[in-house]
Amino acid sequence: MNIASKLPNVGTTIFTKMSALAAEKGAINLSQGFPDFPADTRLLERASQALLQGNNQYSPMTGLPILRDAIGDLIARHYDRKVDPVNEITVTSGASEAIFDAISSLVHPGDEVLLFDPAYDLYEPAVQLAGGVCKRVVLKAPAFRPDWTEVDTLVSDKTRLVLINTPHNPTGTCWQNEDLEQLWQIISTRDIHVLSDEVYEFIHFQTKSVSVHQHELLRERSVIVSSFGKSFHLTGWKVGYVVAPSALTRELRKVHQFVTFCTATPFQQAIAEHLNEVPEASAELAGFYQQKRDVLRQALEGSRFTLLPCEGTYFQLLDYSAISDLDDVAFCEHLIEQVGVAAIPVSVFYQNPPTGQKLIRLCFAKDESTLIVAAQQLAQL
Ligand SMILES: Cc1ncc(COP(=O)(O)O)c(C=O)c1O
Repeated sequence: MNIASKLPNVGTTIFTKMSALAAEKGAINLSQGFPDFPADTRLLERASQALLQGNNQYSPMTGLPILRDAIGDLIARHYDRKVDPVNEITVTSGASEAIFDAISSLVHPGDEVLLFDPAYDLYEPAVQLAGGVCKRVVLKAPAFRPDWTEVDTLVSDKTRLVLINTPHNPTGTCWQNEDLEQLWQIISTRDIHVLSDEVYEFIHFQTKSVSVHQHELLRERSVIVSSFGKSFHLTGWKVGYVVAPSALTRELRKVHQFVTFCTATPFQQAIAEHLNEVPEASAELAGFYQQKRDVLRQALEGSRFTLLPCEGTYFQLLDYSAISDLDDVAFCEHLIEQVGVAAIPVSVFYQNPPTGQKLIRLCFAKDESTLIVAAQQLAQL
């Protein structure tokens, strides 16, 4: 029987492909964005205690109250903003679920959604499943700054949502206050919401990233998404959260309750206790990753790669134009097979990649010794 696919152009993601090829060839895997080091032992112990103490049934649909309160405190500490944990914070199964819930609840068939390419691979399929249409603003290397005139031109009466991501995967750029202000000026007189993907909210270096939490007007229209997978080195736990004004939260929860209903209760309990007992952990994250970024960059100094600036996230972009004429997918396959290092081709984050762009993404959420060996192998090219 013929299956009429709702996502005919979606196949296996490049992350799965590159990780599988890296495993097959025994290459160092700097492709997929996950840490290769353990999380804080105290957090792991809290999770095992939570399991043994019987926190193993459904939590409230909106998330454990202790966790929503702790998230409220986290937001107050970082952004000096008071949010209502009962009506404005929802715990989700990773940021992915939060993004999916937000898009499903806000986008109607025929609505347009503006996003910035290169974009995280989940956005477009979620918009398509909701019957929406993506309009893309292309961010160009090396600065990857939005052209606000182009954004203004692309916004129409059909635009329902603008999807932003800062600190930005894969480019490592961070938006500033002016960016949020420009966005606000464009959408303020229209019926448009913002979905702000801030999963790397605590990982930004000398150039600080601004959060939608800090823009008093924009945040009243926005759904802000984050992930403890990124902040606590626990991508496999899939615990995220979403902050939105109560009217938006009500709509989003209608989807959330049927997608997952709730997120693993013992992990929620453990994260809540950890946030309360080690409140400084999130503020220490930037320094922790800056060290890793600098180790990788220093080890690549003098190589034939050009290193692009990295203001935030745990991703470093490299330009390989001086090394090869291959396109970036072929170059990444070559790297795995001949150099023993797996990376991600940046073109996969674009619908129409800029011609001639030769960029790969390395994940530096790895032990320093791994980063050094990988860089030494890359530097031989
Ligand atoms: C930009 C961005 N958004 C969302 C996610 C998904 O986060 P989670 O693992 O919490 O679902 C990721 C994970 O890599 C990401 O890089």
